Amino acid sequence: ATGPIELTINGEKFRHTGDPEMPLLWYLRDVLRLTGTKYGCGVGQCGACTVHLDGKATRACLIPMAALANQSITTIEGIAGPDDLHAVQQAWIEHDVPQCGYCQAGQIMAAVDLLKRKAQPSDADIASLTNLCRCGTYPRIRKAVKRAAE
Ligand code: FES
Repeated sequence: ATGPIELTINGEKFRHTGDPEMPLLWYLRDVLRLTGTKYGCGVGQCGACTVHLDGKATRACLIPMAALANQSITTIEGIAGPDDLHAVQQAWIEHDVPQCGYCQAGQIMAAVDLLKRKAQPSDADIASLTNLCRCGTYPRIRKAVKRAAE
């Protein structure tokens, strides 16, 4: 039997005492009510549920809580302070990126991770992000990522 799972989310400590197989996405949305992280496909294909696990973009629908003991998660709610926006969020607003908006939190989390790995990402680097957008906002995503890199 496993005991409570302790983890850090957006800098706060939490203890999960429920089902250890619960995917992180459900814990974020249904238990903590952090609903900025979206449910798209539930099978790791779309990227709507992208969060950072120890700083790296990760699909929250695929990770069971049992795998997260003592790990640190950041969600879209945690990438900037309450009174400021992340440079990527600012660039998203400047380039009016979202259409329906549903995938955009995941897009932003993927972009923040990319910019940490590559300060000056190429078009190919940006195209390598596999977050899906049914509205086809990819050209604006590309512009906004480049703007955030400036
Ligand atoms: Fe997780 Fe689609 S909901 S990748």
